[in-house]
Amino acid sequence: MKELLFFVLICALASPSEEAILSSVPPLLLDCYRRGGPDLAAPHRLDVFLSLLRRLELSSRLDMRLFSTTLLRSLRLDGIEESPNTIESDYVLPFRASAFQFHKYKLLMEVFLPSQPDILNVDESLTLIEKCLLHKMLSSTVQPWERGDENEVCPLSAQRRQTMTRQSANRINSRCPIEDGVIKTEWGTISPGTLVAALASALEPQQVTISDILKADIFKEEISQAMVDSAMEDWYTEHEEFDIDDQSSDTNNNISNLWVATLAGDLAEVVVNQGPLVGASEHRMLVGSSNRWNDTLLPRDYYLFPPNGTLPNWHFTDAEILAGIDGLILANYLPTWVGQRRSLGLSQVLDMYYSNEGVSFNTTVRACNRHALYASIVNGSQLIRETSRFAHMLSLQQITVYIPRKEMERMSEAAATAFMNYVPTILRNNHQECRITFSDVPSIDLIVATDGSWTGYEIEQFMSWIGNALEVEAHSSTIALLHGNNGRWIVSPTSNLTSFYSTISNSTIEWPNRLNLPNVISRIIQHSRNSTLEEIAAMASAGHSTVVLIISPTDRPSSEELEQSRVLMQSLRRSFFDIYFAYVALDTTDFQNVNNEYLDYSELFITVNSNALADVIDAIYTNLVKTDIPSRIFGSQCEVNGTEFMQVQYEDHVLPGRKQTYRIHPFYLKQQPIIHVQFRNDGQGQILVCMWRGADVSRICQTIVERETYIVNITDPCPSPGFCPPAHFIATTITTSNLCAHDQCRLPHQVGYYIQHSGLRCLPLLGSAASVSPFWKAHIALSLMVSLMYLTY
Ligand SMILES: *[C@@H]1O[C@H](CO)[C@@H](O)[C@H](O)[C@H]1NC(C)=O
Ligand SMILES: *[C@@H]1O[C@H](CO)[C@@H](O)[C@H](O)[C@H]1NC(C)=O
Ligand SMILES: *[C@@H]1O[C@H](CO)[C@@H](O)[C@H](O)[C@H]1NC(C)=O
Ligand SMILES: *[C@@H]1O[C@H](CO)[C@@H](O)[C@H](O)[C@H]1NC(C)=O
Ligand SMILES: *[C@@H]1O[C@H](CO)[C@@H](O)[C@H](O)[C@H]1NC(C)=O
Ligand SMILES: *[C@@H]1O[C@H](CO)[C@@H](O)[C@H](O)[C@H]1NC(C)=O
Ligand SMILES: *[C@@H]1O[C@H](CO)[C@@H](O)[C@H](O)[C@H]1NC(C)=O
Ligand SMILES: *[C@@H]1O[C@H](CO)[C@@H](O)[C@H](O)[C@H]1NC(C)=O
Ligand SMILES: *[C@@H]1O[C@H](CO)[C@@H](O)[C@H](O)[C@H]1NC(C)=O
Ligand SMILES: *[C@@H]1O[C@H](CO)[C@@H](O)[C@H](O)[C@H]1NC(C)=O
Repeated sequence: MKELLFFVLICALASPSEEAILSSVPPLLLDCYRRGGPDLAAPHRLDVFLSLLRRLELSSRLDMRLFSTTLLRSLRLDGIEESPNTIESDYVLPFRASAFQFHKYKLLMEVFLPSQPDILNVDESLTLIEKCLLHKMLSSTVQPWERGDENEVCPLSAQRRQTMTRQSANRINSRCPIEDGVIKTEWGTISPGTLVAALASALEPQQVTISDILKADIFKEEISQAMVDSAMEDWYTEHEEFDIDDQSSDTNNNISNLWVATLAGDLAEVVVNQGPLVGASEHRMLVGSSNRWNDTLLPRDYYLFPPNGTLPNWHFTDAEILAGIDGLILANYLPTWVGQRRSLGLSQVLDMYYSNEGVSFNTTVRACNRHALYASIVNGSQLIRETSRFAHMLSLQQITVYIPRKEMERMSEAAATAFMNYVPTILRNNHQECRITFSDVPSIDLIVATDGSWTGYEIEQFMSWIGNALEVEAHSSTIALLHGNNGRWIVSPTSNLTSFYSTISNSTIEWPNRLNLPNVISRIIQHSRNSTLEEIAAMASAGHSTVVLIISPTDRPSSEELEQSRVLMQSLRRSFFDIYFAYVALDTTDFQNVNNEYLDYSELFITVNSNALADVIDAIYTNLVKTDIPSRIFGSQCEVNGTEFMQVQYEDHVLPGRKQTYRIHPFYLKQQPIIHVQFRNDGQGQILVCMWRGADVSRICQTIVERETYIVNITDPCPSPGFCPPAHFIATTITTSNLCAHDQCRLPHQVGYYIQHSGLRCLPLLGSAASVSPFWKAHIALSLMVSLMYLTY
């Protein structure tokens, strides 16, 4: 209570620009801790982190500099720990930032990266779960207490059991505590909080002199004047004698915020927390950590395994080291890039750096090149200098005994040596070669249905994997999960994994025990009708294809089900031609008989060796993720009662090294005299558009320069009624001006264009005899709506 009063007082005293960082959980984040907080079941992974960041960036409309500092200020709070002895009540929350990480964060935010807390309106843009997830990903801390699952996660060897005696008053330390504030990337697990702080510092570089720090009220607030005086004397009267830098002016005694945000800040934690115990010994100072995700497909908990025979210790974890290195690398280039493109976003920079293609402004800058970039950027003598200065300031805040500057320098040198010795190992362990062939994946709306082969948890693992493999959020694809037996949605289509997993954890699900194909197809018919009605209302002229992925390694449909499926499939194919059915089975024969159509063009059969998750993932990666599933270009709804249904142009874009493909299904080509498909370049570079029919290898290609249009004309597309192959289009970039700046840009070097068409055969969905009763009402309402919309034009 005394403490609380004390904080309130500080708050009242501090000026707005120097608002103190408190160790209590701020009001914005209280709901993330009350009653255990919401279930954060989404994978702790880069794609999920970026999707949250993008959402916040889009709604905040701040530039990267402001956005990154305010993001840290509102959602990052390091060192939050559960108090071992407190019980939660209406007035007491047993969580506060009481662990050592808090001190560095506080100094960083108060002295080196000043910001205003309330610019970002988090609650307006993110749901509670999204907010808490982002907070947990940004905030470094460790949950130290025993959870009860240790015997499974980190079983004790007999000899270690005897040495495990240390424990705190009421609660036992876990043998494998959980590290928070981390996400998994293809190039190792990193701490995004460190990364964001590095980029914020790069855009707001500051070199704060030691005298300015020692004189700042916000710094002196909680330490005795005697300590401050000792430090002043240490830095400003004796230095001629042994200054290692041989510099005497005050301005040279400075600390850079970029180094505090990255390697020097974390290394100072090693110095301050371990130095007083082990002395200036590079062999006894512990840098780095040994960790493992509890699940690599669905990474949620990141276990720390303290080395044998030492105190549990996580002052400078592997994730912090990698993020510190990546942060320094990016900071080296960022000001130039932002100078070239003011609208560049934080999420875009991170998205490009952690990709095989690299950052569009300089493609050598990418995580797979980390080793070479590190060597050219990080300088050992600078690291020692910055670490020892910052460690001195940190020690004043964190420990009550004064450690002389000279001692601090010796300990910092030892810690820096330990770090330098460790770096080659960690870089090697997290290295992945840059892939030369670029990573095309289709943009699709995926619907998954499974049989009883897998447990619910395995299905969750699979969905986590495929969400990442298809880059769902970045491609504006969607994923959905159907109950394979009753055909109901377990999760209806959504564009991000956060919402996918919050739906799963908020409902009690009975997972399918077998596959009932007719139920699945019926639901797909309903869904396709609904989405086609929506498309008609939205006047869409093109869109992603839907892929229904039926994973049925073990179940085979009964002959009755097969017969029903045939009937239903026939009805489905009367109106919906671009719904792909992909069947995964040990033996796909039965599924090959579902469709009577001679040439369907929208089916995939994927044979697997077993129902093991790993086998299925391998097969789906090769045969679906790495396969071309074109987007669809389609005709409008046919005229009903004199009402015409218009279509608007379709906007799309393509990244350098990747491709976008489209298909017009034969249905829309039949009985038509001439078809025009127009591509209009939006002006961010040159594109190449090619057209071909069926499996035809001869392609008609045309380069379209900035702002130009090109019209492909297909005269008499189906001369023989028996054989009419689909028309295919492909768009790739030739050049990019790296100029894409509007909201829909995923990345700055994408090149946009518009597609428009005419002459396609219309689809008689509304007012046709085929429509069945439950949809009838919706039709009429919709037709009315559409005609009204049309009239107002
Ligand atoms: C900070 O100190 C370094 C040397 O320690 C010096 O080169 C640099 O000019 C100083 N920066 C400022 C802004 O005074
Ligand atoms: C991983 O941890 C999460 C959250 O604690 C848990 O739900 C999941 O079952 C764990 N996975 C494995 C494979 O242990
Ligand atoms: C810790 O001890 C166990 C058993 O004594 C051994 O298997 C393991 O390799 C040791 N780990 C380290 C990091 O030394
Ligand atoms: C890209 O970065 C590398 C490494 O720092 C540098 O050598 C090269 O000149 C840069 N290229 C451009 C175009 O800036
Ligand atoms: C590191 O920086 C110092 C000056 O701060 C310079 O003298 C030295 O050459 C640099 N070392 C490397 C490897 O760049
Ligand atoms: C995730 O998807 C849901 C619904 O599909 C949407 O409401 C939410 O805003 C999305 N969140 C993000 C971060 O994109
Ligand atoms: C969870 O489900 C309940 C009732 O079904 C609903 O009221 C609540 O909004 C849901 N929460 C989330 C986060 O979806
Ligand atoms: C289609 O829309 C109807 C009415 O709007 C709704 O009841 C039904 O659940 C929807 N079906 C699917 C598969 O979304
Ligand atoms: C297609 O037809 C339009 C006019 O109908 C014409 O302007 C265009 O040049 C034609 N395109 C090609 C590739 O011949
Ligand atoms: C078309 O008009 C007829 C007669 O006016 C009416 O009975 C029918 O419901 C209308 N159809 C649609 C789809 O609106």
